[in-house]
Amino acid sequence: MKNILHVISSPSGENSISIKLGNAIVEKLVAEYPGSSVIEINVAKDPFPHLEENLIKATRSSAAPSDDEALVRSNKAVQQIKDADIIVIGVPLFNFSIPSTLKAWLDNVVRPGVAFTYSENGVQGLITGKQVYLAVASGAIYSEGPMKDFDFAAPYLEKVFNFIGVTDITTVRAEGVNMPNLKDIALQKAIDSIAV
Ligand SMILES: Cc1cc2nc3c(=O)[nH]c(=O)nc-3n(C[C@H](O)[C@H](O)[C@H](O)COP(=O)(O)O)c2cc1C
Repeated sequence: MKNILHVISSPSGENSISIKLGNAIVEKLVAEYPGSSVIEINVAKDPFPHLEENLIKATRSSAAPSDDEALVRSNKAVQQIKDADIIVIGVPLFNFSIPSTLKAWLDNVVRPGVAFTYSENGVQGLITGKQVYLAVASGAIYSEGPMKDFDFAAPYLEKVFNFIGVTDITTVRAEGVNMPNLKDIALQKAIDSIAV
């Protein structure tokens, strides 16, 4: 039995490939770990605002009031990560990177003191013992070939999660979804490749 957090960031609703792929990963995890709980958050529908001065102050000093609205929401997002055993993140590739809504969510959870800490020896991640699955959807192919170096989404997310202490990261790709020869099979191929 696991606590699963599913983070959706595609604005495309029922047409979204990354949501379908994320759902398929969650389904396989629930089948593997019966009785698991699943919390779903949709940062496209319910976006975190860009960081403002009050939240920076609240998360980087002890001066701010603890009932600051932005801080309460940020703390909730951190707690959701801490409570999860497995985090599944749907990632549409947008202009070679992640949607800005997903970046805004990251800015709310990758915070010093709660997600990582600075020590004399450098930086230490505080979010340990978790598994992350990235469900990446892209119009072209980035796992290999001439576009590989243009992928600033999966490598970036892998580094961010490494930084906060997560080492067990699996990236599943539905790629070539806009390519005539792959668009009809890309999602199923990705679903078939899911190993939990
Ligand atoms: C704003 C925007 C930017 C995109 N940028 C890229 C890109 O840089 N590379 C790519 O291969 N596909 C790109 N695409 C195609 C999407 O990655 C593809 O449609 C994918 O299925 C989106 O995920 P979703 O279906 O979960 O929304 C872009 C699509 C949109 C809407």
